[in-house]
Amino acid sequence: MTTYETLLIEIDSNVATLTINRPDKLNALNAQVIKDLSQALVEIEANKDIKALIITGAGEKAFVAGADIKELSTLNTQSGVELSKIGQSVFDQIENFSKPVIGLINGYALGGGSELALSCHMRIATENAIMGLPEVSLGLIPGYGGTQRMAALVGKGRAMEYILSGRQIKMDEAHKSGLVNHVYETKAYALEKSHKLLNKIVANGTLALSYAIKAVNASAPNKHGLEEEARLFGALCATNDFKEGTSAFLEKRKPEFTGT
Ligand code: CAA
Repeated sequence: MTTYETLLIEIDSNVATLTINRPDKLNALNAQVIKDLSQALVEIEANKDIKALIITGAGEKAFVAGADIKELSTLNTQSGVELSKIGQSVFDQIENFSKPVIGLINGYALGGGSELALSCHMRIATENAIMGLPEVSLGLIPGYGGTQRMAALVGKGRAMEYILSGRQIKMDEAHKSGLVNHVYETKAYALEKSHKLLNKIVANGTLALSYAIKAVNASAPNKHGLEEEARLFGALCATNDFKEGTSAFLEKRKPEFTGT
């Protein structure tokens, strides 16, 4: 396996665990993480000894706290659309991965972090995990497929509430609404249970598993929805509210939006 600047990859029997490793920034997705993820996914998919994948975040506090807001703050309309499309394509790689993928959500999974989890085939969480799509609090919308995949998973009404309020979702609610498959007390136990489930899964026909993923995904978000998401994400990058929202986060203060 290649060594990646922002990822750790461990292989235990035939299951790979890919850990996003920027714990001091709560594993926020900067351009390097997105690039590393894309390459690592190609490498893991091509490795015949690996039958399944777990994606998680380093440490106990966060899975991924979203796209890197410092990087976002410099975007304009064109670079905003480009950033959204690059992220969408990496998360498409995960959704269309030919081997089963579990997102192991340990702690905060906000914005791009929730969107990463939503692109995985299954989600297993720790009790302290918190999901949410808080982009509107930055004057933005989810740009890595969240507007499409949240609705596909929990229905339009719940997705509207989560996306428009940007509120944090605790795991009892996430479990009830079908956002996560299982919730366990600790990360170590969640990892053990993820391995158990994947071991059971990979004992089945390999080709049948990859075709099952394809068939289930045939009902997944359409290209038009993702195009529209990227276009609107880019358009918001030119607004005063976006500049105010991202500056306020970086300056650790409350934003004052003007609707312009
Ligand atoms: N981007 C960049 N840096 C981030 C980050 C992010 N998304 N989330 C956290 N960090 C950084 C903080 O700036 C801080 O860095 P410093 O120590 O250098 O100041 C460090 O990680 C620790 O974070 P906090 O001090 O904020 O930790 P906390 O415990 O007080 O709060 C939190 C935790 C509630 C998760 C808070 O960090 C937070 O709200 N993060 C941002 C969540 C968010 O809005 N995510 C959406 C991003 S936009 C997006 O993802 C767009 C998209 O769809 C493509």
